Amino acid sequence: MIPDRTPVGRGVYHATAEVAKGAHVPNFQKYKELYLQSIQNPEEFWGKIAKEYYWKTPNTGSFLDYNFDVTKGNIYIKWLEGATTNLCYNVLDRNVNEKKLGDKIAYYWEGNEPGDCMQVTYKGLLQQVCKFANVLRAQGVKKGDRISIYMPMMIELVVAMLACARIGVIHSIVFAGFSSESLCERILDSHCSILITADGFFRGDKFVNLKQIADEALRKCRERNYTVGKCIVAKHLGLTEDTLIDEASTCPQSPAAKRSCYNLQAPWNADVDIWWHELMKDASDECEPEWCDAEDPLFILYTSGSTGKPKGVQHTVGGYLLYTATTFKYVFDYKPDDVYWCTADIGWITGHSYLAYGPLANGATSVMFEGLPTYPCVSRFWEIIDKYKVTTFYTAPTAIRLLMKYGEEPVKRFSRESLKILGTVGEPINPEAWLWYYNVVGNRRCPIMDTFWQTETGGHMMTPLPAAIPLKPGSATFPFFGVVPAILNESGEELEGEAEGYLVFKRPWPSIMRTLYGNHERFESTYFKKFPGYFVTGDGCRRDGDGYYWITGRIDDMLNVSGHLLSTAEVESALLEDAAVAEAAVVSHPHPVKGECLYCFVTLRDGHEFTKTLVAELKAKVREKIGPIATPDYIQNAPGLPKTRSGKIMRRVLRHIARNERDLGDTSTLADETVIEELFSNRCRTL
Ligand code: WTA
Repeated sequence: MIPDRTPVGRGVYHATAEVAKGAHVPNFQKYKELYLQSIQNPEEFWGKIAKEYYWKTPNTGSFLDYNFDVTKGNIYIKWLEGATTNLCYNVLDRNVNEKKLGDKIAYYWEGNEPGDCMQVTYKGLLQQVCKFANVLRAQGVKKGDRISIYMPMMIELVVAMLACARIGVIHSIVFAGFSSESLCERILDSHCSILITADGFFRGDKFVNLKQIADEALRKCRERNYTVGKCIVAKHLGLTEDTLIDEASTCPQSPAAKRSCYNLQAPWNADVDIWWHELMKDASDECEPEWCDAEDPLFILYTSGSTGKPKGVQHTVGGYLLYTATTFKYVFDYKPDDVYWCTADIGWITGHSYLAYGPLANGATSVMFEGLPTYPCVSRFWEIIDKYKVTTFYTAPTAIRLLMKYGEEPVKRFSRESLKILGTVGEPINPEAWLWYYNVVGNRRCPIMDTFWQTETGGHMMTPLPAAIPLKPGSATFPFFGVVPAILNESGEELEGEAEGYLVFKRPWPSIMRTLYGNHERFESTYFKKFPGYFVTGDGCRRDGDGYYWITGRIDDMLNVSGHLLSTAEVESALLEDAAVAEAAVVSHPHPVKGECLYCFVTLRDGHEFTKTLVAELKAKVREKIGPIATPDYIQNAPGLPKTRSGKIMRRVLRHIARNERDLGDTSTLADETVIEELFSNRCRTL
């Protein structure tokens, strides 16, 4: 499956000598050797890694026990069951006490406004976490209880999640961009007893009154006969608690002071609301961790499901620790002096695994950024990279495409010379964007880790390793250690060699989700029913002649044109090669003869006009790239695209627009509703 020799050839990018020097996995042969070990003897492979962490009681029973086949009984996965540990202890106490990293910076925090920044050491973080864990215990919560966390990107968010982990409480973090309805729905689904939130924050120019939204969510819960006992509010605004400064008249020009000039703008309900800082004042900074079974739940994170109702993906303590720590170390080739920056919000799985648990388990220094890539200017990312001498930068293709629109100059204004490794996650990266990231951002020296994974997988599944795996732009390359992928056809047969079909995994890796909270049946039917014996990702995938894997997008983003399976991502990538196109989203559309055809939405770069000539040019481009079969039937001008708050294009909504169906279904995750009307009025009416 994995080639014997290092892949070479045109369009293959190899690591520079600098990247290879001292790398954990220095070459392809070594990758292959380790991979085979991890597959042939998972117990030995993961057992050795487990020894690097602290276990109160080591594992004595079976190392891995599972059933992946619904026809043989219930699905279950258990790694190291019976061993006890504590995740917070491993990422903090172990680093401070055993590894002597107490004075090392855990996070550089960079606020929405340049100049608004702070930092926290491992020792400082441990103290805060112990105090807050004691606060939670004093509120009466105990192991196994659920707590909802609805906070902006502030250090207290990490403190809250680690405090939960310390006392065995299951955290359910809800991204602070979600609506009160979404928050309410998530609180109800997991029966959270406490809500932790903040007063408010800025995202770019926009003020978000978070406490007010949280209040609305709690009111909605009460209307549905569920009462959340306490709402702990961390203070992110205001200089002192009692000063209410008139923002317009007294706010100084210094941007750092902007949030200081605001104060809480929501009513205070003394029966429910408590200030974080008041609770922390007298709390002790010593807190005995709760020793948990490796298979005890660590957190729930909701992800959207095709039926509309979000799914509470549940991860456990032991396996999640091992896998996030190991992927972080190898995929980013982590070294103790690195400064790592993952731009994801902690409210998403990428933030959980690669801004919190993975880097902390390695004792890494991270940048935590509250703001936006385009605020106050489009150079913000590059400025932050220079400011903190970031070595490892992990972001999303959508951010790269957005910044590409502004050209090279805003990037080149900053040196970026500290950068060593780049990464992407969240969606397929089109080769155009990949090359821009590689050539312009990384100055052709930094390999790009295109990491394919999911909320459900907990950590990277298909990914390059910096020095070991030669890159092909747009390919997530090969499986990580312990991961056994397969490509299936519609009848569930495994395809060998060059092939395209459904991407599945044949056996569990340590951080696979264990269930959907409160709904094991949905877990089994969503991920294990279609192809018994496999974990079904829901993504399409192609394997090329060199064995490289190319994620082609969600299966529901695939279409069949005259009997040919096409992925919308492929067509998008072709459209994006045109100099006029900034973004493209392609959906399937019914066609009387072909069955399905392509309906393309394109956002143009500044200075380009949507003309008949351009449409003809774009059609020719796709035909040229993929073949006549892929010639789009419709190309529509889309000044804006409907996106989720995490930046994913909502193709489901676009499919409705293409068909002129006004009932769009659930649009609660949509970041900006206003683009919808514009898209309806721009519809292509005829062929
Ligand atoms: C997509 C994000 C192609 C994929 C970690 C997956 C990707 C879904 C990639 C999971 C990638 C993520 N290349 N597609 N490198 N990474 N995806 O749960 O469709 O928010 O199923 O997890 O994003 O999204 P989720």
